[in-house]
Amino acid sequence: MKTTLFKEASFIRNGRIVKGDILIENGQIQKIEPSLKKPAEQLIHEPNLFLLPGAIDPHVHFRDPGVTWKEDLETGSMAAVSGGITSFFEMPNTKPSTTTIERMKEKKKIASEKSIANYNFYIGATEDNLEECLGLDNIPGIKIYVGSSTGSLLVDKNSQLTPFFEQKKHLIAVHSEEESMVKQGQEAYSHSTNVHDHYLHIRTTEAAITCTQRLVQLAKVYNTRLHICHLTTKDEADYLSIEKKGTNITTEVCPQHLFLQAPDIYEKIGTYAQINPPIRDSKHATALWKALKNGTIDCMGTDHAPHTKEEKNKPFGQAPSGMPGVDTHLPLLLNQVSQKNCTLNDVQKWVSHQPAQLFGIKNKGFLEVGYDADIVAVDLEKKWTIKGEESFSKCKWSAFEGETITGKPIITFVNGNIVYREGNMTKEHKGKEILIKPLNERSRRK
Ligand code: DOR
Ligand code: ZN
Ligand code: ZN
Repeated sequence: MKTTLFKEASFIRNGRIVKGDILIENGQIQKIEPSLKKPAEQLIHEPNLFLLPGAIDPHVHFRDPGVTWKEDLETGSMAAVSGGITSFFEMPNTKPSTTTIERMKEKKKIASEKSIANYNFYIGATEDNLEECLGLDNIPGIKIYVGSSTGSLLVDKNSQLTPFFEQKKHLIAVHSEEESMVKQGQEAYSHSTNVHDHYLHIRTTEAAITCTQRLVQLAKVYNTRLHICHLTTKDEADYLSIEKKGTNITTEVCPQHLFLQAPDIYEKIGTYAQINPPIRDSKHATALWKALKNGTIDCMGTDHAPHTKEEKNKPFGQAPSGMPGVDTHLPLLLNQVSQKNCTLNDVQKWVSHQPAQLFGIKNKGFLEVGYDADIVAVDLEKKWTIKGEESFSKCKWSAFEGETITGKPIITFVNGNIVYREGNMTKEHKGKEILIKPLNERSRRK
């Protein structure tokens, strides 16, 4: 592995933008000084680029094994690093679902051979696999589909949930939509061909808040380390702003729920906009942005959930839910920085510091001496147009298609190696399994 010296780089130190030199050795950040003389095998002297810790995406679907016509661990991770994401946690709704120790081992083996980014995987809860879950070490958590979505995973009754909420070994991550309410909506609108029924009548705000309230109350009884995935409603944000205080509960938001809105996006791209939980109107998006800024929402994730164009072209009722997003995630946030809607400090907090801290990730999420050299160099001024066709992902489309934004990842380092530079990808260096501190060795969140 080459030693690398970043000369005259800009980055954030203690909340302030500074210029300085950074030395990378053995895949880690060895020195950060105003000026370093030490020779290195590789010199990066790009004073116009800004360095950020690589983004950590706690929520992707890379479809490997079993659904690899949509994505696989190689293409998904390539799309990720091209967008400045250097580490990801992947969800268990593959085929087969990741619900046993054996399947977890298989997935980690595939990742070690194919993934360009650093990786780890959730185990999916079923009615009867708590023992399997407890037999695993070094995973981000147990994913529970409390409302069903893509795939067959579902655990929604309190009596089934309680043993999972009682255990103290793993974090519980939830897809929170009240299954009975969603089912009712699906039955009532089973003949609908109107995509607006998706968010208006099937996956309603009531279904989301009802489920989130139930799960928060359960987590409070058992003091569960609960993480609520992809928050979508003002109702949940308002509720959590009070109920989350003093608990071990955290939550995340996705860029599509902040930057796309009903009804416009459904009118523009139809079922391509269909995701679970859904994109809602601007009242919700505004409240989510506010909640992210004031800390009620702890971090961001992409919920990168690719489906092919052929699948998405099906009429409403047959088209699957989900959209890609690893390659546009950080760029969309840099665009917000360029519009002065948030700061670079906010961005690195939401996509790097907080995911690292929330999930107890060792040695990642910060540009600090001793941390892994997962780094993204971005051009904050670069204007470019999002084109799904150009993505490294298999699905080749984006809900943000045609949007011209400012800010782009230019070089991505994973464990001290350049894996992506200005459109060029190398598959030579594979990512590593992300190391996670056991729950009982972490300090309480608040
Ligand atoms: O829209 C979604 N797509 N929501 C989910 O919960 C699952 C995901 C997928 O895997 O396609
Ligand atoms: Zn989900
Ligand atoms: Zn998801």
